[in-house]
Amino acid sequence: MCDLVKWRALVLVLATAVLGLGSGAGVGEQSLREAARGSGLLIGTAVRPAQLSEAAYASTLAREFNTLEPEDALKWEVVHSERQSFDFSQADQIVDFASRHDTKVRGHTLVWHRQNSKWLTEGKYTSGELAEILEKHIRTVVGHYRGKIFAWDVVNEAFDELHPGQMRSTIWSDQPGIGLAGNGFTYIERCFRWAHEADPQALLFYNDAEAEVVNPKSDAIYAMVRDFRQRGVPIDGVGFQMHIANLHADVASISANIKRFTALAVQVHITEMDVALPVDSDGNARAEDLQTQANIYRQIATACVSHPGCTAIQTWGFTDKYSWIGSHSKKTQGAALLFDRNYRAKPATEALRSVLAAGRL
Ligand code: G3I
Repeated sequence: MCDLVKWRALVLVLATAVLGLGSGAGVGEQSLREAARGSGLLIGTAVRPAQLSEAAYASTLAREFNTLEPEDALKWEVVHSERQSFDFSQADQIVDFASRHDTKVRGHTLVWHRQNSKWLTEGKYTSGELAEILEKHIRTVVGHYRGKIFAWDVVNEAFDELHPGQMRSTIWSDQPGIGLAGNGFTYIERCFRWAHEADPQALLFYNDAEAEVVNPKSDAIYAMVRDFRQRGVPIDGVGFQMHIANLHADVASISANIKRFTALAVQVHITEMDVALPVDSDGNARAEDLQTQANIYRQIATACVSHPGCTAIQTWGFTDKYSWIGSHSKKTQGAALLFDRNYRAKPATEALRSVLAAGRL
């Protein structure tokens, strides 16, 4: 860290201690999106359309965030649940909400191995048929939102956890794949090219989990992105999901990873951040864990603002009332987001707000 960066970090820490920002005391009326205005950083969240009719949900969303992303509404099982038709009604609600509140929309996701429609996974299609189906899906969905969705997670989680560095075996890659099985990430390239043709202005991202730090998976993604950039494949960014468990984040490695990716002249978006905590049967976390959580949000946000190419911090939902963590952990984990179940700001909100207000380091 250079001296100036160290100095600004110190001022931030002192301000936090003196003003009690880390304790959820608040900094007046400034919202997260207002705090982010100076730096131009995108501060976003995943959204569930069914909740938009809830007044507190909608008002918090509109007040705090300048970017929204459908949590599930653009996945195949929702948008393409019948082979011959598309249903954009859920995602359209989010896009309409965004346009009424001067908010951007990220799209998630066009190609994934989960939440696919039954007709697709059980259809026993040939590679030729799958290629045709996938091309039509990408062109139709991206085309529908041309000019309205500014960035897409074109492909999500294509690299394997169990065999680090290797491609995941999926319907799109090799089961049976779209005709490019055995050709590494060529099928991903094909998807990016289709998406680019459907909306040449949209920013196209590759998004993945457990690739936030420098590790074999992020090494493999790095090699792919470098190759794409060298050959002019239209990729604009990489999304690091940032689902943090066990109250542990290797911030130095996360920062080094952001640095090497942005050096390839692609943007980095933190796309799905949450910090899961152990909770009791009422869903409550311990006070000291909430402080540790705030510190993690602060450190990750600081890592992002320290690199000009890191342009968005997005959380996977914003209220602990609605989060995937509870239902995916038999309710033993939760309280992972910025606002509690009553939409009150948590220590993490104040920590994030103070980093955003301090601006680029
Ligand atoms: O649609 C059915 C509904 O008909 C049924 O009544 C209900 C009963 O539980 O389930 C609904 O399906 C749920 C679906 O979300 C749509 O809401 C599934 O149970 C639920 O498991 C599914 O979870 C989603 C999960 O992806 C699936 O893998 C979460 O909401 C969503 O937050 C999560 O998001 C993923 C990102 O897309 C990619 N990165 C990881 C992240 C967290 O897993």
